[in-house]
Parts: sequence; structure tokens; C-alpha cells
Amino acid sequence: SRSPSLPTVDPDPPAARRLPDIIIIGVRKGGTRALIEMLNLHSDVVAAPSELHFFDWDSHYLRGEDWYVSQMPLARPGQLTVEKTPAYFTSARVPERIRRMIPHARLLLIVREPTERLLSDYTQMYHKRLEKHKLQQTLETLLMHRGELDLHYKALNRSLYHVHMRRWLQLFPRSHIHLVDGDALIRNPLPEMKKVEEFLHLEPQINASNFYFNQTKGFFCLRDRRRERCLHGSKGRTHPRLAPELLRKLHDFFHQPNQEFFQLVGRTFDWK
Ligand code: A3P
Repeated sequence: SRSPSLPTVDPDPPAARRLPDIIIIGVRKGGTRALIEMLNLHSDVVAAPSELHFFDWDSHYLRGEDWYVSQMPLARPGQLTVEKTPAYFTSARVPERIRRMIPHARLLLIVREPTERLLSDYTQMYHKRLEKHKLQQTLETLLMHRGELDLHYKALNRSLYHVHMRRWLQLFPRSHIHLVDGDALIRNPLPEMKKVEEFLHLEPQINASNFYFNQTKGFFCLRDRRRERCLHGSKGRTHPRLAPELLRKLHDFFHQPNQEFFQLVGRTFDWK
């Protein structure tokens, strides 16, 4: 006799690799790693584990869309995929490339007080050179040229947010770009992450229990059902102390560019 047929159960739809729905475009040293890790706490988000440099490195871009997709994590239907490459924000050719491949991408930009970001950028380069046993230069030497701030110094230029933002706004509507306040995210991550959830139309899920302050690290660390973790030791380094005159010079220098940035994005930040 025939055995009774089993009730049919819909198998879980298969997970697949897809183009990212969300791209964290920068800014370098703004807190991009913290942001992607915190976003990844949400069950409807899956994050690419490393920086892909797809749109800014020709050697990657020329490999094409299939290669890019192959670098993405598996996502179930309904989940959003996110990648972060902070170099995108300051790379002139990137906005057009993203618009062509992912016109509906939702873009996240995390910014930080520009002088602090510059110091963080310098500190990162300092450590990289140290690891490679390269000669160190003081920040003063790199910053100053014939008694004036050297606008060609990359770490300075990257903090001129309005210059770079203008390019993005030529190609993407302002409503597609969400700004995260990187200084606020350091002080208290939850309110910033709730705004990100809202922008992405995610079900509200990230909550206070996802964060705890670690006194030793001096930063918030992350907790989900599986584990507790702080960011890597390269995140949250001590910055060099600048001479007060130079610090003042930098703050004065950034004042006008900051106003232009605020005007461009239609909001202000609590920067000196
Ligand atoms: P510093 O190391 O200069 O303090 P990015 O990931 O874009 O490179 O940014 C690194 C910065 O993220 C760090 O710069 C740190 O200030 C900031 N950050 C924000 N939240 C953090 C957290 N919870 N733990 C460690 N660093 C955090």
C-alpha cells in the first residue's frame, strides 16, 4: 500500500549573494567599522566582512559586477546587504560608478569633527609606518608648508567634507544619503543607530542591551545573543597632542568649510 503523502512544507527560500542595498561610503576614521558592526546586530542586515574597494580601485572595478557580488555575504530574501569602503567618499569617480550599478543604493556617511578626524587619520598612518619600520614625520611637518596649512596633505583634504559631499549630491538625492554623527556614536551609540534603522526602514530592533561601556577600552562594545565584543585595538587609539596654536589654527581653518558642509546637507553638527 502507498504510504500517506507527507504534508508539504515550503522550504526556506535559499540565501543568495546580491549587490549591496546599503553602502557606507565614509568617511575614513569617522567610525565606519563601529557603524557596520552595529548595523550588523540587526537580524535583517548582513555585512561584507572586509573593505572591498570595488568602486575606487580600477583593478577591482574592471572585474565587473559578478565579481563584486561574489564578494558579498549570503543574504536571505528580505535581508539587506551592506558593505563599507571609507575611501569611496573622497574618490572622484566613485559616485558615478555606484549610481550606474546600484541607482537605488542607500548611502551612509559617518562624519566626525574634522580636526579630530585628521588627528585620527594621522595616527593611523603613524602606526602603519611604525609596523613597516618607516621613518616617522611629525604631524606639524606634514601639515605645514612655508608657514601655511598644506591643502595637499591628504589627511587635511579628507576633512574638507563639503568638497567631497558636493560631488555625491550632484548624482544622488539628499534623501538617499543618511549622515551619522560619529562623535555622538562614540558617546552613545543607541540614538544614532535608531536613526539609521529608521532611515533604512528596518524593524526597530537594536536596543540598549546591544551596548555596554568597557572602562578599559574607553568605548562602547557590542553584545548580541552569541557574544560580547569590543572593536579591534586599532580602533580607539590615543591621538598626538598638538601645540595649542596649531590646534587653534586648524579649528579656525575648518570653520568656513564646516559652514559650507552644513549648508549643503541642511543640518549642523556640534563642532568647534
Ligand atoms: P580613533 O582610533 O582615532 O579613536 P574607522 O572605523 O572609520 O577607521 O574609525 C575609527 C574610529 O572609530 C576610532 O578612531 C574611534 O574613535 C571610532 N569609534 C566609534 N565608536 C567606536 C567604538 N565603539 N569602539 C572603538 N572605536 C570607535
